[in-house]
Amino acid sequence: MRIPFNQPYLSGNEERYLREALLSRAHCGNRAFGDRCVALMRERCGFGGVFLTPSCTAAMEMGALLADLRPGDEVILPSWTFSSTANAVVLRGARPLFCEIEPDTMNLDVARIEALVTPRTRMILPIDYMGIPCDLEPILQIAAKYHLVVMEDAAQAFGSRYRDQPCGSLPPLAAFSFHESKNLSCGEGGALVVNDPEMARRAPLLQEKGTDRSLVLKGERVKYSWVDLGSSFLLADLLAALLLAQLEAADRIMEIRSRVTHGYEALFAPYAARGCVRLPRPPAAVRVNHHAYFVIFDNAAHQESFLALCREREIYPYRGYLPLHSSAMGKSFGYRPEDLPLTEDLAARLVRLPFYTDLADEGLDYCLEGMHAVLRRLYGN
Ligand SMILES: Cc1ncc(COP(=O)(O)O)c(C=O)c1O
Repeated sequence: MRIPFNQPYLSGNEERYLREALLSRAHCGNRAFGDRCVALMRERCGFGGVFLTPSCTAAMEMGALLADLRPGDEVILPSWTFSSTANAVVLRGARPLFCEIEPDTMNLDVARIEALVTPRTRMILPIDYMGIPCDLEPILQIAAKYHLVVMEDAAQAFGSRYRDQPCGSLPPLAAFSFHESKNLSCGEGGALVVNDPEMARRAPLLQEKGTDRSLVLKGERVKYSWVDLGSSFLLADLLAALLLAQLEAADRIMEIRSRVTHGYEALFAPYAARGCVRLPRPPAAVRVNHHAYFVIFDNAAHQESFLALCREREIYPYRGYLPLHSSAMGKSFGYRPEDLPLTEDLAARLVRLPFYTDLADEGLDYCLEGMHAVLRRLYGN
């Protein structure tokens, strides 16, 4: 049996909706299925404006444009994230200020944010690693104190809740991913949530190439024109049809995936108790969407061996991100690996385990038994 790292899930209605969208002959962005996705997300999650985009990457680029980031501005973000988080900032000419993380969640260490704020700082850009919500309340407080914008990179966190609020509903800006590796997927896709009313008024212009096409769609104009900056931040309705099927099944998908989390927790808990590994410890006040699971080994050699021995059994965990501050681009901003020692150390020991919805029904026992054999080999019985 082969256990891949990830595999997209089909929830049942994808084919029917896709066919409907195809036959509608209205395939571009902001059409019928897109509208239904937006309505459902707003109703379910209490979001302000929702703008479906081609990816979370694009959503954050649109968010950075909306926040009016400019050359010379600074943005505080974790080094432990995907390139897209930093690129959104760098593409506007702003400078990333990488902040350390804390090991229970691998999210921004909020206690270290304020020390990074300078008169040039304009934004805090935290992520919700593995769907574990970042500690948003203190982040919003710091932002209010220094007049900063918060954009939450919630790429992995659709369905998670922070203090009983859906992720993405609290900050002025939040971005989600519907890439095939996520809980809900339409191949490639994303959404920018705009909760700030001022930005929400401008967002439709930026999404539609800087035009007021949204007013034409509403019947308020007969012809649209170039009125602002913008790009093509739109999700084709064919993909929105796939997304709607997944959004409608979101609770069921999360419930199925919870079985994978529980399987990993039960397997690794005894090894955590013996100090061999460290497991995620989300705070009590959050609900995690069962997007993923990570384990931090006691040393880098055990991380390597675990990956290699799992591969021999055709089980494919992987090591997760490489820190951004010590990447080629990070170094071009003057960073050295030793600038964020905690991130470097955790990155050298962390493993992300295979995680996908179908795994709960097929392969989980094989995966857990295989990993158990590997762990016995590494740490004895
Ligand atoms: C934290 C984070 N942000 C952004 C992205 C990019 O998402 P997308 O592939 O939808 O552009 C990812 C991708 O996995 C991610 O993990």
